[in-house]
Amino acid sequence: MAIDTKLSEQFIDLEHTHGAHNYHPLPVVLSEGKGVFLWDVEGKKYYDFLSAYSAVNQGHCHPKILSALSNQAERLTLTSRAFYNNVLGEFEAYITNLFGYDKVLPMNTGVEGGETANKLARKWGYMKKNIPKNKARIIFAKGNFWGRTLAAISSSDDPISYLGFGPYMPGYDLVPYNDLEALEAEFKDPNVCAFMVEPIQGEAGVIVPDEGYLSGIRSLCDKYNVLFIADEVQTGIARTGRMLATDYEEARPDILILGKALSGGFFPISVVLADDEVMMCIKPGEHGSTFGGNPIAAAVATEALRVVQEEELALNSLKLGKVFREQMNNYIQSSNIVTLVRGRGLLNAIVINDSPESDTAWNICMSFKENGLLAKPTHGNIIRFAPPLVITENQLLDCVNIIISTLKTFEPK
Ligand SMILES: Cc1ncc(COP(=O)(O)O)c(C=O)c1O
Repeated sequence: MAIDTKLSEQFIDLEHTHGAHNYHPLPVVLSEGKGVFLWDVEGKKYYDFLSAYSAVNQGHCHPKILSALSNQAERLTLTSRAFYNNVLGEFEAYITNLFGYDKVLPMNTGVEGGETANKLARKWGYMKKNIPKNKARIIFAKGNFWGRTLAAISSSDDPISYLGFGPYMPGYDLVPYNDLEALEAEFKDPNVCAFMVEPIQGEAGVIVPDEGYLSGIRSLCDKYNVLFIADEVQTGIARTGRMLATDYEEARPDILILGKALSGGFFPISVVLADDEVMMCIKPGEHGSTFGGNPIAAAVATEALRVVQEEELALNSLKLGKVFREQMNNYIQSSNIVTLVRGRGLLNAIVINDSPESDTAWNICMSFKENGLLAKPTHGNIIRFAPPLVITENQLLDCVNIIISTLKTFEPK
């Protein structure tokens, strides 16, 4: 019997009529989530293989995080930073201790974390590296994605992100990703204050750099007195099989940006971590946010990180990521529709054997949806797979089954 999708259509129509058209969602209307599962308004159940772009690493509606949220929401929600509150300091102590930095600066969205890191780096450049006024440069890698603000799109080489929104922020330059020589050439300019980079490029299609790239960045930053900013908004908090993707090498960043899974998906929380040498360059009044570090965020982020540790989600991600790639690689041997699987931990992607302009990957994702699994293409012909890290091995194998049997229907005859 065909499912009546009228209810879904109503919600889609509502969004289409009254909301800006700045997204192109898959036509599924979700109303519930629990662990690795999502349900649509017609009651159909799906495996979530996107995790809200890795914000829901702890699984949907994790009971412990929910409880931290509701307990705090009953007592105190927001004071602004005009006053102290009795939750923020404990969170700050917890997170700085966990990641090994002197100080933390709390914000809300990932892109605000990036903005904060950029401001910190410029200030440090003027105060500590004696860069002449307004001459500080920050280098980024081609293919980067760190959000949608004017600063973020000014460092983007994706025309969809930047075209039509100029003029752009000066002082930003790009080098190819995974290219230490090009980076060193830029670092010779004494006005360079920082290199900001994702340890694995998420939105670009889960691009994993060569071994030695991250430690190479660290060495070059030390050699030329440049700050290493790691954007771990997507890769951080156990997604890639370690707490941080930079943990895979001797590559401790000077400035670490975290977001997304820092709240387990409950609401936007981001932070920037750095040592005093960098963080103390910013003085009262020079940066902040009304909601940054609010009591609910502090309580939620503390619990969200505790859950990651208690449930050993990094280990699960490491273990099951290997299983996933092994299974996919077996299939790819005889596939003409998938050319490649790549990733670390449970941040993976497959490349579809068609041009980025084709709608093959989109159609495959529509078919995954019909078969009970939600994933989304990125850059046309790449499909990212990032389930909540609480997924079990049996569930993962079930998903591999859905993925492979769906892909088989797209194999050229
Ligand atoms: C690596 C990275 N940095 C920053 C951001 C921006 O985060 P937000 O959308 O919370 O502003 C994203 C979002 O996808 C991201 O993947």
